Amino acid sequence: MSDDDLRQEGGTSRRDFLRTAGLAAGGAVVGAAAGAQEADPLITEVQEWASATGEGVDATPYGMPIRFESDVVRRTVSWLTADPISSINFTPIHALDGTITPQGCAFERHHSGAIELSKDNYRLMITGLVDRPLVFTFDDLMRFPRENHVYFCECAANSGMEWAGAQLNGAQFTHGMIHNMEYSGVPLRILLEEAGVKPEGQWIFVEGADASSNGRSIPMEKAMDDVLVAFTANGEALRKEHGYPVRLVVPGWEGNMWVKWLRRIGVTHSAVEAREETSKYTDLMPDGRARKWTWAMDAKSVITSPSPQMPIRHGAGPLVLTGLAWSGRGAIERVDVSLDGGVNWQTARLAAPAQKFALTRFYLDIEWDGRPMLLQSRAIDETGYVQPTKHQLRAIRGLNSVYHNNGIQTWAVYENGAVENVELDA
Ligand code: MTE
Ligand code: CO
Repeated sequence: MSDDDLRQEGGTSRRDFLRTAGLAAGGAVVGAAAGAQEADPLITEVQEWASATGEGVDATPYGMPIRFESDVVRRTVSWLTADPISSINFTPIHALDGTITPQGCAFERHHSGAIELSKDNYRLMITGLVDRPLVFTFDDLMRFPRENHVYFCECAANSGMEWAGAQLNGAQFTHGMIHNMEYSGVPLRILLEEAGVKPEGQWIFVEGADASSNGRSIPMEKAMDDVLVAFTANGEALRKEHGYPVRLVVPGWEGNMWVKWLRRIGVTHSAVEAREETSKYTDLMPDGRARKWTWAMDAKSVITSPSPQMPIRHGAGPLVLTGLAWSGRGAIERVDVSLDGGVNWQTARLAAPAQKFALTRFYLDIEWDGRPMLLQSRAIDETGYVQPTKHQLRAIRGLNSVYHNNGIQTWAVYENGAVENVELDA
């Protein structure tokens, strides 16, 4: 199975054009302030939760989100693939803030299901064009120097269902095949040096221990640069679904190369040899040719709130617009936000200095006048690359692609605060 299974729904795009009908449905309270003065029993009266003691520290050895947050979960789209073992679920990016994705709600993509592999049964083999073929146990890996890095992992198919037009109503579904975690791991370079890569070893072929094995080729230059053999995410062991006990982290490059349950690294001769051995993703162009070796994820961004799953609940007045930006080619330099479908742009505030290959959180604090908006965000990375519009992208890549859709997303905000996934006319 491959990501080719992420089919579009019979070409019936849900919204091809912005509909301006029915905009005046709401009762926006113009001028309402964020904060009120009246006596509120929730602050003036003693409440039930203050009248008795709460749970002791032994109640929850491993903490879970409070029940009021139970809708902040991964979700799937049932028609995407035939079977959940070869499917994908989506990170609830609309409901998160900051940049770190908790493992428990980080999207999953499996080609043959999530397997259970213990540390005791774990082995990693390095073979092929090396002086000393090696097999590492988990404990062996723990004896090499480690590094910590925050990186995003984006499936190449993220936003793939949106190629033909606006289709899925939520940032979780349009942009949620991404997570951003802090990994601890051993630089792959150190393990390759331990095995002694022969001069003719120009590529590696990496495989997982699951039935699909998800074999992928990676050029030696990248393997020796910043690839990590990782065993923790956000400080704790990888979850089963993210490759416990060990996964490959390939910063900035498409998620399918981030092999989970990492089992074998074969050092191969040349790009040609690796090309014959590997399966890979390609992007079908309008003229029938295909783009391939499209490893790095181009700069992209999305407004996470407001968004279809995060309507404006408070009417006009102060409004925090926020979203995420990222690039697989370097740090995010700037994010622009438009309230009018790309006519005028304002520079958003980055929550923290942008880090290379990690998600960047942006904010734009506005006074909403209660009128409809067409929200867009546009990321610019340190290479100077500017995130394209969907029309610009389609002019070059056509409509047949599944992968690498980094076009600018448009959310229509209506007077009642509802938000919808729309597309603008060219
Ligand atoms: N590794 C193995 N062994 N098996 C897989 O099915 N899926 C790949 C990649 N690594 C896969 C794998 C794909 S397509 C993606 S997008 C990422 O893992 C997703 O990683 P995640 O499940 O931690 O989000
Ligand atoms: Co993927």
